[in-house]
Amino acid sequence: MIRFRSFAAAAAAVAALSLGARAQTTLKDAYHGFFRIGAAVNTRQCAGQDAAGAALVAAQFNTISPENDLKWERIHPQPDAYNFGPADQYVQFGEKNHMFIVGHNLVWHSQVPRWVFQDDQAKPLDRDALLKRMHDHIMTVVGRYKGRIGGWDVVNEALNEDGTPRRSPWLQIIGDDYIQKAFEYAHEADPQAELYYNDYNLENDAKLKGAVELVRKLKAAGAHITAVGLQGHDNLEWPTVAQQEAAILAFKALGVKVSISELDVDVLPAANRQPTADVSATAVAAANSNPYAAGLPDSVQQALAKRYAELFGVFLKYHDVMSRVTFWGVTDGDSWKNDLN
Ligand code: XIL
Repeated sequence: MIRFRSFAAAAAAVAALSLGARAQTTLKDAYHGFFRIGAAVNTRQCAGQDAAGAALVAAQFNTISPENDLKWERIHPQPDAYNFGPADQYVQFGEKNHMFIVGHNLVWHSQVPRWVFQDDQAKPLDRDALLKRMHDHIMTVVGRYKGRIGGWDVVNEALNEDGTPRRSPWLQIIGDDYIQKAFEYAHEADPQAELYYNDYNLENDAKLKGAVELVRKLKAAGAHITAVGLQGHDNLEWPTVAQQEAAILAFKALGVKVSISELDVDVLPAANRQPTADVSATAVAAANSNPYAAGLPDSVQQALAKRYAELFGVFLKYHDVMSRVTFWGVTDGDSWKNDLN
């Protein structure tokens, strides 16, 4: 294993890899001792249908996140039916490769079936019934992988851009304490598991303030929150170094760890991309929406490499509080950004 003498050298390794240069080391070894390096994996990679993708993950990464297979609509599609097959394969893939295995996610407003919030007459559930449903789901899913999945995104994306609570069905039916309850149930299901709050755009001031307030309240209520996941759906200009640092430092001050949980850097010009990681904001595919369909110009590839070095420079500076940096997707071909989100 090659250890880098300086943070800058380690950051440069990422830049080199993104340039396709012949790497001297692997990503996970380059950052060994600083933080784990992860990738979100899909069903085909875990099932061995994408052998090249699976081999790349095994060689380069020491933590994995499930891109979709543990989301409610996949793992619990009907009230009395769980679909554990792909999730089991995901966990087995991580164990086979001695990786830190992340669970994503338990409580979210997206990729959750409508029946979750309704009774069998399709009427809205009341608070107690939805809390019971949340409890059953968390006990079943977290309980199944107890001691094997090391950390869970317990609640995903609970805030609006202005930092106020998102009025999801969870909030509307249960009330403000639904987040606290989700953390309570996850801790009950696996007391050893790390528990995370995960969101995007937390590098923006108003949303950061809202998240800091949320974490402060959770801690005051006794929630076992280990870390905040900054999703990291970035672009070449945003977030600035100052914004990235401010977000990391704000959570460090609260005594929780930080991870970059879903890193990707969008290189499309601003006019062609959505200014959000909101999965419902899918752009209408237009013929001119990707100016780089025939390949990325060298100048943009260089800018991307520089940008990765800049971001990893920040992560390394705060490595004492950073637990992991996970890329959202193994290759550009796997990226959800291909749907122009
Ligand atoms: C995305 C997946 O990558 C896509 O395959 C799926 O169609 C939509 O969700 N924030 C999250 C992730 O927390 O779960 C999302 O993943 C990307 C944004």
